[in-house]
Amino acid sequence: MSVPSAVSAPGPLRRNPLWTRAFHAFNLLVLLVMAASGLQIYNANPVFGGREGATVPALFTLGGWLAGARDWHFGFMGLYAANLGLWTCLLLQRRHRRLAAAGDLGTLRASGNAPKRRLAAHRITYTLMLIVLAFSLISGLAMYKPAQFWWLVSLFAFAEPAGHPSWQVLRVCHFATIPAIALLLAVHVGLSWRIGGLRLLRAMVF
Ligand code: HEM
Repeated sequence: MSVPSAVSAPGPLRRNPLWTRAFHAFNLLVLLVMAASGLQIYNANPVFGGREGATVPALFTLGGWLAGARDWHFGFMGLYAANLGLWTCLLLQRRHRRLAAAGDLGTLRASGNAPKRRLAAHRITYTLMLIVLAFSLISGLAMYKPAQFWWLVSLFAFAEPAGHPSWQVLRVCHFATIPAIALLLAVHVGLSWRIGGLRLLRAMVF
């Protein structure tokens, strides 16, 4: 996923190189697999309301049942982590253009220059997306290897005095990455749409 070049360099719409588009599309696919298999895992024992609690429609799930979903989830988690690592390295090389900077919030609030405001909004969304994706990896690792990463699990013990076990909090936090990512993706796509419409979206993925 890249901030479209049209945001920072106005002018004729340039198609991203093939490898960028392929990486973009592949990232989206891996994310969809992780989310859909995660929702199937959730359905086996809903964290909201227990076994009789709220479940997710089968259309949004992958794996058919708990074991199948775990196969997908654990099979793709390495790819997910590798993609995220590669993406972070690429971004750090161009952070002055892609990642949020100290002045971006101020620009968003006070600047009268619409393109500048949009760029600031895009960089903030993009940076938040990276943080949420990394959080899903960290919370996922804590659930995957709780004995080895006990110190990660213990970070989620903050609500124990209120009667919420750390494991339950960890599950809710890991689950919450789905609506958070969906929201940020919608903003990312919406901003790109406003800048270049369908042509820009196609230039990013296809
Ligand atoms: C490397 C990254 C990830 C790892 C290591 C990981 C690991 C895990 C583990 C161990 C579980 C519990 C499995 C079980 O109880 O059988 C789980 C559940 C889940 N995962 Fe992930 N996950 C990762 C990324 C993601 C991502 C990116 C998403 C969504 C975008 C996601 C969504 C979910 C959901 C919704 C559940 C069910 C939560 C619950 O009800 O407890 N995971 N994941």
